[in-house]
Amino acid sequence: MIETEGSRAKRIVTIYDDIYNLPDARDYFRAMHHAGFRTAHHGAAAFRAARAELMRLRGLPSLGVLDFASGYGIAALLMRHKISLDAVLDHYRDPALDGYSTDEMAARDQDWLRPLRAPDNADRYAGLDIADQALAYGQRIGVFDAAFAEDLQTDMPSDALAAWLTGCDLVVEIGSVAHMLPQALDRVLQAATARKPWVITAPIRGNDTAEAMDVMARHGLTVEPLPLPPFRHRRFADDAEQARAIANAAARGHDPEGFETTGYFHAQVYLARPADELMDIAGWPFSPNVD
Ligand SMILES: C[S@@+](CC[C@H](N)C(=O)[O-])C[C@H]1O[C@@H](n2cnc3c(N)ncnc32)[C@H](O)[C@@H]1O
Repeated sequence: MIETEGSRAKRIVTIYDDIYNLPDARDYFRAMHHAGFRTAHHGAAAFRAARAELMRLRGLPSLGVLDFASGYGIAALLMRHKISLDAVLDHYRDPALDGYSTDEMAARDQDWLRPLRAPDNADRYAGLDIADQALAYGQRIGVFDAAFAEDLQTDMPSDALAAWLTGCDLVVEIGSVAHMLPQALDRVLQAATARKPWVITAPIRGNDTAEAMDVMARHGLTVEPLPLPPFRHRRFADDAEQARAIANAAARGHDPEGFETTGYFHAQVYLARPADELMDIAGWPFSPNVD
């Protein structure tokens, strides 16, 4: 999903930049439906499994969860509600929503999500992104308890974010950006040392950068790919995007044949945990669907 032109110090540019920060989530999720977006389906299944294992291992009744580069918060939404990605995409496709104002949309989304909240999940969810409107919308409809519109790639965390991170147990990320923002990941982990969070990310193949792996290792975390076959992220926009994706995947040691060659970005999930918490993950209930 990420176009990697330019140096790491520059802003990340993607073909969806114009819909990342709108007053509500309609256009973003409609575009994701159109693009055949699947990562959140597989990512959320893995995040839920990691959450359950972390709670069991540390004896915690609930977690502080940071949705890193959250946008409108699809990771947090799927983790804290009893709902599938398909149901979310269907919800936003309803043509009846076309004429809604942002206030009407927010009211409808609040009514939609409230009864879907998982009763056994008392986690505290925060969104971190540079997209202030997307974060505000996520908070308004109950996806986030807290939201931080900050760019940790360039700045230190605010006092409020640093305080929140002291209670952070789990960092989750869908959409590939965590691996493209090693400085931001580093600053999150620096501020979150009190509880040493697990980090679980779903980068597309090729965006699983060595820089991000190094950052996690320097913070004492062992990074492992989950034992899942690579899964579809979204359809390529055009031939040029596919050619770049094939080259990027190959450069990271992935064989693109049967994956990126089929017309879709493919992603995988990486889990980073402290060495003394490396319990076997073979039996975790990952998503059963390959598509
Ligand atoms: C591919 S989107 C993924 C959004 C969300 N995780 C999802 O899957 O729907 C990438 C997100 O990264 C955010 N982003 C870009 N640069 C960022 C930065 N320096 N710090 C935090 N977020 C950033 C964008 O605003 C956008 O919301």
